[in-house]
Amino acid sequence: MSVYLVTGAAGFIGANYVQHLLEWEASHAEVIAVDYLGFAGNQANLDSVADRVVFEKADIADLAAMEEIYRRYRPDYVVNFAAESHNDRAILEPSAFMRSNALGAQVMAECSRLVPVRAHVHVSTIEVYGELPPRDRWFTERSPLNAKTPYSAAKAAGDQIVRAYMQTYPNLDIRMTHCANNYGPYQLPEKLIPLAVTNLLRGRKVPVYGDGLQRRDWLHVADHCAAVHRVLHADLGPVPAQAATAPELLPVFDVSARHEVTNLDIARRVVTALGLDPEEWIEHIPDRPNHDRRYLIDPEKIETRLGWRPERDFDTGLTETVEWYVEHRTWWERILEEKGELGFDWSMVSQGPA
Ligand SMILES: NC(=O)c1ccc[n+]([C@@H]2O[C@H](COP(=O)([O-])OP(=O)(O)OC[C@H]3O[C@@H](n4cnc5c(N)ncnc54)[C@H](O)[C@@H]3O)[C@@H](O)[C@H]2O)c1
Repeated sequence: MSVYLVTGAAGFIGANYVQHLLEWEASHAEVIAVDYLGFAGNQANLDSVADRVVFEKADIADLAAMEEIYRRYRPDYVVNFAAESHNDRAILEPSAFMRSNALGAQVMAECSRLVPVRAHVHVSTIEVYGELPPRDRWFTERSPLNAKTPYSAAKAAGDQIVRAYMQTYPNLDIRMTHCANNYGPYQLPEKLIPLAVTNLLRGRKVPVYGDGLQRRDWLHVADHCAAVHRVLHADLGPVPAQAATAPELLPVFDVSARHEVTNLDIARRVVTALGLDPEEWIEHIPDRPNHDRRYLIDPEKIETRLGWRPERDFDTGLTETVEWYVEHRTWWERILEEKGELGFDWSMVSQGPA
């Protein structure tokens, strides 16, 4: 029996990962699910596995609390998904993002140093690489971090700290993933796809920022979870000294299906999947400030070194995802009842001092 400590487990990807983990590892895994139930945290995401996980409400940026949890459960494997994750919200409350995404990443690495584990995966994002110039094909593990938003800058700070731990403490087995945009079940309806579906199911239009031509790289959440699990269990060996000047030698893996789609195209597909006319059901609204236009990463390293490949094609995955939100109306209605409307209108929002 191995003990898995999964943070951010009540969020979108963490909850999907815990459910898959219990399928993949069946009776071999004892799962400790940690989450501080922040804005995006929803313990109901774990309802289907509630009797098979131990839930701990805790803040990953609190060293004393996390060290106590590590000492109590002695995890073999750690996956750190916990982060504040919404770019819009980060513009309004950047400090919360710095705490979870930067300090939280350090505290988690430190706990794995103080109470040794077999492997620790720090889950990060494509967005730390910043905006892809139109002339470039994609980012790779060699690309410099070039974050430009408060969310991605906080994640990039966390990445830098984790990279420092990888190289400074050779016995600490810590790895990292950078993933493309995820879609799938259990995503808070403030993100593009669930926002579009839940608006349409309530007779409201889909809001699209600006011209909607921002390009994103999309991957089904189940494929992301499989990639994280593959990285967690890979036999990677020690970090070579040459990694100091060759970042592609670090245990860092970019995860993507190389599937680039514009936000407008996503909105059109969701509207069409529900049998409606995109000309009638999409409205363009003011763009959020400092919005990245494009990003795409190359997953060649994880494909060739670890044999991971995405299994879901985008059209099927998107259709199934839309159906999931149609069939799980009670799940998202409860969220909207509790949190109110989740879309942002930047023409109404002040970004400076009140
Ligand atoms: N959603 C994506 O498209 C995407 C893509 C690539 C990488 N990621 C990364 O994957 C991870 C999970 O993303 P998500 O989309 O599931 O986000 P999410 O916002 O749905 O879930 C994050 C969870 O972390 C919890 N959390 C935040 N700060 C915490 C703290 N200090 N202590 C304990 N719990 C805390 C929240 O309560 C929430 O339940 C994040 O690290 C994110 O940067 C997300």
